Amino acid sequence: MMTGKEEQIFEKVKDIPPMPQVASKVINILENPDFSFAELVRVISKDPSVTASILKMANSALFAPKNDITNLTQAISFLGVKNVKNLVITLSTKSLFTGSNTPFFDNKIWEHSVATAIISRIVVLNIDKKKAEEAFLVGLMHDLGQIIMLKSMPEYENLLADAFNENLSIYDLESERMGFTHSDVGAYLMKKWNLPPLYENSIAYHHKPANADNDFLAKIVCYANNFTKINNIGVTRNIDKCYYQKMLEIDEETLSECENFFFEIFENEKEIFNL
Ligand SMILES: [Fe+2]
Ligand SMILES: [Fe+2]
Repeated sequence: MMTGKEEQIFEKVKDIPPMPQVASKVINILENPDFSFAELVRVISKDPSVTASILKMANSALFAPKNDITNLTQAISFLGVKNVKNLVITLSTKSLFTGSNTPFFDNKIWEHSVATAIISRIVVLNIDKKKAEEAFLVGLMHDLGQIIMLKSMPEYENLLADAFNENLSIYDLESERMGFTHSDVGAYLMKKWNLPPLYENSIAYHHKPANADNDFLAKIVCYANNFTKINNIGVTRNIDKCYYQKMLEIDEETLSECENFFFEIFENEKEIFNL
């Protein structure tokens, strides 16, 4: 059953993309608790660009500073299956962030998404380690709705251009001009992709975390989203009303250490994600 808002989205946004193939295959394999490691390696190795990036990632500072990992099997055992799943989703999702009429905005939104994912992961590692991988993925996909709108609604390019030129809130412009927002479209996509409700909910409320069912990830991504925007990684530097650092269960000193670590590694991590 579609909600009223979903019907409205469906009418305007005809092309809801499927989840990239390698990602859905990996998710399927991992759904079985007795999955075969060899099968996982085989499926991933069929995608050379994902494979190359996983190798780079296994040797990167975000996961471990001193490593010399040279093959995919080693990389997967080192990173852990959960991380690998996230990386495969991340790297294969990159293909969705291309192909609009304005590569300038495709790139801006992708860079902003990767940065939001990385700072989310770093901060959550210091609050609740178990949720770090989910935080990374929600960070990565929080603005996927923008890309889908950019590709399927001709008027959306102007909206982004206005946000970019006048430093306006994309979310507010969408609410005014369209009656629904990229949060709604992104949440709808998570549902279509059969990801757990947690993803749908935190993406739906990343601009209004107080309204989320389980507000932990929505608050994290709200913070991370604004942190990257303030640092000029994104279409606009406009700060959301939802942004207040004290909403995170972390002291200021630790948070600033996290932010410093982000600046230290982001330039190198960018390369992994083909920025
Ligand atoms: Fe957003
Ligand atoms: Fe964002």
